Amino acid sequence: MKLTQDLLIRLQAGERPTAPELATLLNAQGKACDLIYQAANTLYQRVMGYVVHLRGIIEFSNVCKNNCWYCGIRCENKQIERYRMSQDQILDIARHAKRWGCGTVVLQSGVDSFYTAELLSDIVRQIKNETGLAVTLGVGVRTRDELALIKSAGCDRYLLRFETTSNALFSALHPDESFLQRIRCLNDLRELGYQVGSGFMIGLPGSTAEMIANDILFATELKLDMIGCGPFLAHPDTPLAGKPLLEDRSMYYKTIALLRLLNPYAHIPATTAFDALEQDGRNLVLTRGANVFMPNLTPGKYRTQYALYPNKPDVDEEGEECVLRVRQRLLALGREIGTGPGHARRVSVES
Ligand code: 5AD
Repeated sequence: MKLTQDLLIRLQAGERPTAPELATLLNAQGKACDLIYQAANTLYQRVMGYVVHLRGIIEFSNVCKNNCWYCGIRCENKQIERYRMSQDQILDIARHAKRWGCGTVVLQSGVDSFYTAELLSDIVRQIKNETGLAVTLGVGVRTRDELALIKSAGCDRYLLRFETTSNALFSALHPDESFLQRIRCLNDLRELGYQVGSGFMIGLPGSTAEMIANDILFATELKLDMIGCGPFLAHPDTPLAGKPLLEDRSMYYKTIALLRLLNPYAHIPATTAFDALEQDGRNLVLTRGANVFMPNLTPGKYRTQYALYPNKPDVDEEGEECVLRVRQRLLALGREIGTGPGHARRVSVES
């Protein structure tokens, strides 16, 4: 307890902890664990003023040429039907997102080359022209030229998780990609002027508190505008089927709390996977440092086909219902809903 208190005081003073120190915090139990949550919530409240931003997510294609070991939409999974949404379908949902009070739409898909940089640019330009919403893209690694083209169409942000900082684990899980390629892409995004989001899965098979500590430190070094992390959940139709959750469930939440403490101004979403971990898991993360909620706007008929992991929530809802429920959920938690795009704090400080 005393050790946790001392470490927290140092973190709050802006000191960068070592990986073993962070691992100690990740292992904190009972009252010491609660202290970490409280410190993260207090910091969030001070910096963000209890505001939660809504980013409507549109999972527009589950076609993926990659075969990542953990992911339910990996190309070798023949148990799901593949779909692609048209430009008009995507635009239609973006219009609704605006009406429902989302400041941002997040367009996410598998690694699907059907959506060329030209097509993605068209989609982004149309959404920006018609709705003025902020647009975030999450479509995997792309070349610098492609990213430049999409940026010039007005794209604001990009999400690309690094998944794990363990090079050995990264290579084992990603037969089609390298860690360095992802880092190269993150650097390109930053240089091109995107607001950049990245993050990792918490509790991949074989991971330890020390490894999670390294992931937290690496995410912090990247000076990200957004940090998206969620629990790894074993999908039955992947080679990692049956892999267990972390024995200490609180480690998932402590990871988010520590990310907040080290990154006061970053946007940190309460990711959907927390609701698949346990009932109202996203509410819990929102009281432990997270400040962004991403209602799912994918049409109902596609939702079950976009199962990256099992027990994904809200698969039987349509977008409007989802946003309404999210609003009620946040208000019940005493949160205010953000208005406007909720851009990166770093950018708004500069501009
Ligand atoms: N469990 C948890 N998260 C997963 N993702 C993919 N598969 C899983 C899984 N089985 C996450 C990855 C990816 C993001 C879109 O979803 O981190 O970057």
